[in-house]
Amino acid sequence: MELKIDSTDIDFHQLIAYSLNSIMIVGQAGKILYCNRACLELLKLASPEDILYKNLYGFLPPDNHASCNDRLKRVLEKQEILDLAEQKMICSDGEVIDIEVTAAPFYLKDMILAQVIIRDITDRKKAEILLKDREKLASIGQIVAGIVHEVKNPLTSVKGFLQLLKESQPHPYLNTMEAELEKALETMQNLLHVSKPDLHEEPFVPIDLCKELTALLFLFQEKLYNVEIEWDLRDSERKVVGKRNLFLKAFFNLVKNAIEAIEGIQGKGKIRIEHYYKSGRIHIKLSDTGVGISKDKLKMLGTPFFSTKSEGTGLGLTQVFTTIHKHGGDISVKSVVGKGTTFHVQLPVK
Ligand SMILES: Nc1ncnc2c1ncn2[C@@H]1O[C@H](COP(=O)(O)OP(=O)(O)OP(=O)(O)O)[C@@H](O)[C@H]1O
Ligand SMILES: [Mg+2]
Repeated sequence: MELKIDSTDIDFHQLIAYSLNSIMIVGQAGKILYCNRACLELLKLASPEDILYKNLYGFLPPDNHASCNDRLKRVLEKQEILDLAEQKMICSDGEVIDIEVTAAPFYLKDMILAQVIIRDITDRKKAEILLKDREKLASIGQIVAGIVHEVKNPLTSVKGFLQLLKESQPHPYLNTMEAELEKALETMQNLLHVSKPDLHEEPFVPIDLCKELTALLFLFQEKLYNVEIEWDLRDSERKVVGKRNLFLKAFFNLVKNAIEAIEGIQGKGKIRIEHYYKSGRIHIKLSDTGVGISKDKLKMLGTPFFSTKSEGTGLGLTQVFTTIHKHGGDISVKSVVGKGTTFHVQLPVK
């Protein structure tokens, strides 16, 4: 039998009330006259009373008021249908979210009102920022690789001549010079790792990260005097596929930072390492109870040469971020100054 419905049977009120789009009806001076369920959820409101007959501007950041007023006037006075525009809204808990909004006139009895349709674009915005960051990293990487290439060769030849000089005319300064040169070359090598990990034609292999993480901690044995390690390793049969050495280096850098963060509080601390599988991805969480990272510095993480340590190169996290992204993964950081930091790595399981 052919499926048919009569449009007079459709409960249009229910259609709007349960629509997946957030819908509002707004009158003169921004008075909110109707708000559907999706809109309540979007703004984290418990009931319609929390918003009905209130002013729309109370849910908008002050710097959005003028443009919103302008757009609302165009709908109510000139009966225009507005293009989509990006804006921000304030939820009941104070969180500011990115939204995309459009509006059109809505006629009710002898009134002209505005029907406003809102879409949450917070995730899209986050993805855009992430992409920009990655592009920035990639272009910095290219510049760095070029510089390293130009500088490494002359340094290597200076090293060769120094060795010859040491044999023919020994001098106490020559050893110091050689050691310093070695440091410079090592920095160059690290830069290459960061900017062009693919220079090392390492094969993709299945990696048991639980095993690797456990082994990795042994490397830090003498540094773990003041550090308690807490393990929660699950789903070890799930393996990621990737370049083993790059991963080892990345987790080495994360653990090293965690230990240094605890050294920074000059007391005892704890590192917790979690490994589990969820929704097609391996999750690794590395938390420390170290010094923590302030909000403004959090934004800088992963930028080459950003370091707050006197001896730091600021390349550790660049290597970590590059490696995780190259393997199709994601990394996020949460931190509270004085409490500690958690790095959350997610990697696809192939
Ligand atoms: N677990 C952490 N706790 C607190 N701060 C951290 C943590 N991890 C990174 N940071 C901050 O991020 C900065 C950059 O880290 P990154 O590993 O890139 O460089 P670094 O540790 O300073 O130097 P390097 O890794 O070359 O020794 C650090 O200087 C530190 O301020
Ligand atoms: Mg580091």
